[in-house]
Amino acid sequence: MAVGRLIGIGVGPGDPELLTLKALRLLRAAPVVAYYAGPKKRGNAFTTVQDYLREEQILLPLIYPVTGRIPAPPFDYEGVMSRFYDASAERIAAHLAAGRDVVTLCEGDPFFYGSFMYLHDRLSGRFRADVVPGVCSVVASAAALGVPLVYRDQSMLVLAGTLPEDELARRLADVDAAAIMKLGSNFAKVRRVLSQLGLDTRALYVERATMTDERIRPLADVDPATVPYFAMVLLPGARWQGA
Ligand SMILES: C[S@@+](CC[C@H](N)C(=O)[O-])C[C@H]1O[C@@H](n2cnc3c(N)ncnc32)[C@H](O)[C@@H]1O
Repeated sequence: MAVGRLIGIGVGPGDPELLTLKALRLLRAAPVVAYYAGPKKRGNAFTTVQDYLREEQILLPLIYPVTGRIPAPPFDYEGVMSRFYDASAERIAAHLAAGRDVVTLCEGDPFFYGSFMYLHDRLSGRFRADVVPGVCSVVASAAALGVPLVYRDQSMLVLAGTLPEDELARRLADVDAAAIMKLGSNFAKVRRVLSQLGLDTRALYVERATMTDERIRPLADVDPATVPYFAMVLLPGARWQGA
């Protein structure tokens, strides 16, 4: 019996119309659809594609054991997550071994900070694994904000807001352009660094780019207590004057 293949599809930043034609075709054809979810929520990747699913498809929710704030040590966060990804990979492997293709949904692009990567790491040596790239939240945020990101020979840095304050400052000190992701509870620290470097007036903030509840606010007006998981700060490159 032929084994199935694992297909990670990028579902884009939230607008269901931002799926690629290839992602949509493979999603609709797959007998099994796996997706990450919280204990009470189906997750954004699932809600993005739910109108495209067929009734006969087997749904395979992979429920995160930890959501929100990570408990302090001695809680073994890395160990808990590693065992969760092991178990999730084995649940998918059972379908693949039985000959069923498994599409796994991923917000944005699967290979850009995507949890799909942990499944790919575990399964790609055992089964055929394909990836369909998706519209990444960085470019979706630029489109939502209406700002070109980089011109000509400018370079762009992508930063995780989870980095320590001094590390963020060191890396941002000399950038042409940057995207700062993973804000949430890191927002106040990120804004402080931008302000110390005099970059706060150039920085743009967007929440839930391309989703129905997308929100754009001046950086200075953002209440750190309200910053959601899907939020980003962009520092666009200086406008090119030559062309
Ligand atoms: C784990 S990363 C996933 C990135 C995703 N794989 C991609 O390609 O865009 C999650 C971070 O992406 C950013 N993000 C994802 N979707 C977003 C959206 N629609 N609007 C703004 N930021 C978003 C946020 O910074 C969030 O903390």
